[in-house]
Amino acid sequence: MAAVRTPGVSGYDLGFRSVREEISGRELSVEGRFPDWLSGQYVRNGPGAFEAGGERVAHWFDGLAMLAGFSFGDGVTYTNRFLRTRAYREAASGAPTAGAFAEPAGGVLGRLRALTAEPTDNANANVVRLGGRLAAITESPVAVAVDPGTLATERVVQFEDDVGAQHTTAHPARDARRGELVGYGTRFGLRNRYELYRLPDGHTERELLGTVRVDEPAYMHDFALTERFAVLVEHPLTAAPIDFLRPEQGFIDAYEWQPERGTRFLLLDRATGDVIADPRVSSFFTFHCANAFESGDEVVIDLVAYGDASVLGGLYLADLDTSTPDASTGQLCRYRVPLDGGRVSTRTIADVGIEFPRVSPAVGTEMEPHRYVYGQGSADPDRAANELVKIDVETGEVWTWSEPGVYAGEPAFVPTPDADREDDGVVLSVLLDVDAERSALLALDGGSFQERARARTPHPLPFGFHGRYFPASGK
Ligand SMILES: [Fe+2]
Repeated sequence: MAAVRTPGVSGYDLGFRSVREEISGRELSVEGRFPDWLSGQYVRNGPGAFEAGGERVAHWFDGLAMLAGFSFGDGVTYTNRFLRTRAYREAASGAPTAGAFAEPAGGVLGRLRALTAEPTDNANANVVRLGGRLAAITESPVAVAVDPGTLATERVVQFEDDVGAQHTTAHPARDARRGELVGYGTRFGLRNRYELYRLPDGHTERELLGTVRVDEPAYMHDFALTERFAVLVEHPLTAAPIDFLRPEQGFIDAYEWQPERGTRFLLLDRATGDVIADPRVSSFFTFHCANAFESGDEVVIDLVAYGDASVLGGLYLADLDTSTPDASTGQLCRYRVPLDGGRVSTRTIADVGIEFPRVSPAVGTEMEPHRYVYGQGSADPDRAANELVKIDVETGEVWTWSEPGVYAGEPAFVPTPDADREDDGVVLSVLLDVDAERSALLALDGGSFQERARARTPHPLPFGFHGRYFPASGK
């Protein structure tokens, strides 16, 4: 587990300090040069404040949602905005955070309300295009639409469609060929089920593609998409609906790690919704898939695997404020799942700690095989998130970037227009420089993994979750 250390020694605790100011359209000083072809903006979501009702929230995942946007033009301009939601108002007015990831929901009635009528709108996990607008999302079935220029909250979208899931993935996958997002959720009830859905570009109503009945649903965060299949990686962190009704516990506390169940790969046919295969392997836990593709009669999935779900418990602020998490155990692994239900094979692609695995959208959203995976690395077990990594999944070669006193967030690969190499482009990442007490947007060259440019922000940004590059034109 995490090594105990004195607060401030590693500076890691700066990544959990609340942001007090909102900045609009501030031009940043730039070292080096961002590519001229970068346009539009890179927007990152994550917790910006960690107090609600005057007290620290319990878990990193319950920090108040704040967007940080970097716009590319003649230079780089910076804007940060908290989402103005019910969760934000309640936190400001001193009310407890109800219905969040690890916070009590106010007893049984509060939990029922959070799972039905009032899901949390603290959408701090990811950003997507929704109905032609920019939207912040999390694992509850709501989306918060924002103005793409100011990042100001426009409205909270509660879906009114055929999908009844009370808990959804924060990672709907984009299929650029078909022009749609595909996602899934869990619908709790007398008959629990996973629901697979699609959301065509320009729409705000999801179309139900298929359902899978399940006795005890798993807490799943991400999934994998190929041209024909959606792959749910159902690790054995499961809960029965009655488990949610224990008073004074958080949503995630209902789930229990049951390794004897193993981890199941659920291959759902996107056209029919049918389960094509559901083989089990020895149990492992995962937050994120890097990419998946079809190869002959197999589906190949690259994901970051952990031995168990203890990584979730290491992300409580009580631990993070005084130590660093043991993030070195997540490794990029390849699973090959036969379509005929045969034995699944696996291998570790590279022996490095990694999280937030990403591939170039030029392959990922085109349902193509990938050669390179980029991620946040953890070379030093006592100091998580202290590097960026690029992994060649064919050769196992690893490139790293790091700097003393600097933590790095999720990388986003942006391909050079008309690139003829998969790694021809830049890797964007938000840094936290604990000595300077500032953050910066970093651009690495995708090929050499050397720094091309960085733009420093006026204030330090807490550790965030996911970001996305939105070009000035196109998706
Ligand atoms: Fe995520």
